[in-house]
Amino acid sequence: LRFRDRAGRTTRLLTRRFVSMADVHHAGLEWTLVPEDWTGAVEVVSALDGRVANRGVARYRQLAGRHLSPVAARAWSDEVIVLKVATRQSDLFISEAARTRVFRGDRRLEVPTAVHQVPDYIQQVLAFDVHRGEATRVEKMVTFSSSRDPAVGDTLEKAARSARRYLDLGPAWGRHAAAWRGLWQACDLRVEGDERVQRLLRLHGSHLLQVCSRHTADLDAGVPARGLNGEAYRGHVFWDELFVLPYLALRMPDVARGLLMYRYRRLPEARAMAAAEGLEGAMFPWQSGSEGTEETQRVHLNPLSGRWDEDQSHRQRHVGISVAWNVWHYVQVTGDLAFLDDHGAEMLLEVTRFWASLAHLDPVRGRYEIHGVMGPDEFHEQDVNAEGPGLRNNAYTNVMVAWLCGVARRALALLSDGRAEELRQRLDVTDDELDTWDDMGRRMFVPFHEGVISQFEGYEALEELDWDGYRARYGNIQRLDRILRAEGDVPDRYRLTKQADAAMLPFLLTGDELGEVLTRLGHPPDPGLVRRTVEHYDRRTSHGSTLSFLTHAAVFAPLDLASSWEAFLVALESDVGDIQGGTTQEGIHLGVMAGSLDLVARRYAGVSVRDGALRIAPRLPPALRAVAFPLQVHGTPVRVEVRPGRATVSVAGEARGAVSVVVGTEVRTVHRGETATFVLDGGQP
Ligand code: IFM
Repeated sequence: LRFRDRAGRTTRLLTRRFVSMADVHHAGLEWTLVPEDWTGAVEVVSALDGRVANRGVARYRQLAGRHLSPVAARAWSDEVIVLKVATRQSDLFISEAARTRVFRGDRRLEVPTAVHQVPDYIQQVLAFDVHRGEATRVEKMVTFSSSRDPAVGDTLEKAARSARRYLDLGPAWGRHAAAWRGLWQACDLRVEGDERVQRLLRLHGSHLLQVCSRHTADLDAGVPARGLNGEAYRGHVFWDELFVLPYLALRMPDVARGLLMYRYRRLPEARAMAAAEGLEGAMFPWQSGSEGTEETQRVHLNPLSGRWDEDQSHRQRHVGISVAWNVWHYVQVTGDLAFLDDHGAEMLLEVTRFWASLAHLDPVRGRYEIHGVMGPDEFHEQDVNAEGPGLRNNAYTNVMVAWLCGVARRALALLSDGRAEELRQRLDVTDDELDTWDDMGRRMFVPFHEGVISQFEGYEALEELDWDGYRARYGNIQRLDRILRAEGDVPDRYRLTKQADAAMLPFLLTGDELGEVLTRLGHPPDPGLVRRTVEHYDRRTSHGSTLSFLTHAAVFAPLDLASSWEAFLVALESDVGDIQGGTTQEGIHLGVMAGSLDLVARRYAGVSVRDGALRIAPRLPPALRAVAFPLQVHGTPVRVEVRPGRATVSVAGEARGAVSVVVGTEVRTVHRGETATFVLDGGQP
């Protein structure tokens, strides 16, 4: 920043600041002042402010935004000030300490300081002279400590002591930068062919690694839908980790495991939620916070009409399926059977049990049905032509439950000696129960109409929407729910979808897996089913959630690469371009950010890990000349590079094992320190 003050003097101010990725409780801020054409006295105010409030989301401003109460503010030493506050709802203590020093070159200046304070704010004023053309550097090193940290007694003492000992900014910055280099080495994704795509992927990576780091996983933090830098959804956790964990599981398995443990620790609350509804097993909440209780709002403010409408979204019980899918995917790609033994299988069994208790066998159809839930598409809260709340037989839910019934059985078979018996006894999983799950895997009801999977039973009777008319009238119709409700109508009446719902099936299940589940359910193989289904909903989806672009990009990858790329670019630009008109400032969309990285690796480069082998089946969009990234296969670090016509796999020299790689019909073992190149027939397998 270069500025001229009221006295006509010109000054340059250079700043840098960081929150350390190396030392979890540290941060730093540096100001370098250069008076270009003057010499004189300055005062710098260095403060700790406990009066901060949540004001970032306009529509929440009438709600309580102050979450901190003052506890203590004091000057701890000549150079360290400290502020202690308590969170108002959760009664946590947080203390921050700041140590501010002034340097000219490498020389530290002795400067007089004065302290001023009120209960929730403390400041130090540092007075010193600056000289024309000469740089003076102010360093504010901050440490913080909370009562949830391990190894803490009094947070104030701890923060203050640590601020006194903390490094100066230069070396602290060096440690921070080195920690980031390590993260990029483990997680970077390089693409050739489109500089902007590369840059945005890096932006997404940098956000992902800040929100889901070893520091946060250790602190029992989940995956907030809007990251850590915005206030929308008040930090709530939804199902968005379904789009986040796959990337982490393949690169930072310990972080992915920490996030699964976040769910495991809330399993008792999920059990209590199921029990409260007269159900068994574990019912994970749609929106949750620290304790894992249901926090979903029951009314929703429609900014178009100013009215509060009823909100049924807590019926999105499918969130439990995403927890289960993540557990299973994590175990597949990491081979971490100890996790399955100790925690994962229990979650899988309890979620399956929940679905089995919610499902009922329809005696006429001879099929299991699930009523009263919503799928991911939030535009359909209930069937306008049927009685009762929620939907009947949401296809995404029913098919995934059939899949889960098979997985729960397979998970039991993978447990170490005696563990399956022990777990079954502890959870009281009877043979009859297992038989019911098997039966559900063969007899869940799946609705179809016009040759496609119906989003839910009764969907076929809904009216078609005049899409062109609405586009012409409103321009952006992503939030058709708000538009229709403001018109006195309801989205439930129409064949329209906010976000991928039935299309989530080919997103989560491979073609083979989906085929197997449907065949087991008695539906004859139909090679065109996925294409017809995806195209049907693509024409009727408003993409009111940015997650939807991502899902459509992924499911179109094997069907229509041009459409896939088009949707991917929208997903990629969604936060940086603020395509929802004002939501970026409320927080990033972490699912889309992480999902865009995962999409390039798993869909375009086509990597997957199954049965312990790395499989590569690329579908590179023409815009990309190459994609390269590291990953870990069952703990072995591997580097993959895909270009048109060939794929290269290198196993790190320091790796402990070898990796079996499958490309088309070729199967090879790549040993540590080796690089293997696979020729792709015609550029694509
Ligand atoms: O979880 C999503 C949901 O699928 C769509 N609305 C926003 C939520 C949080 O990102």
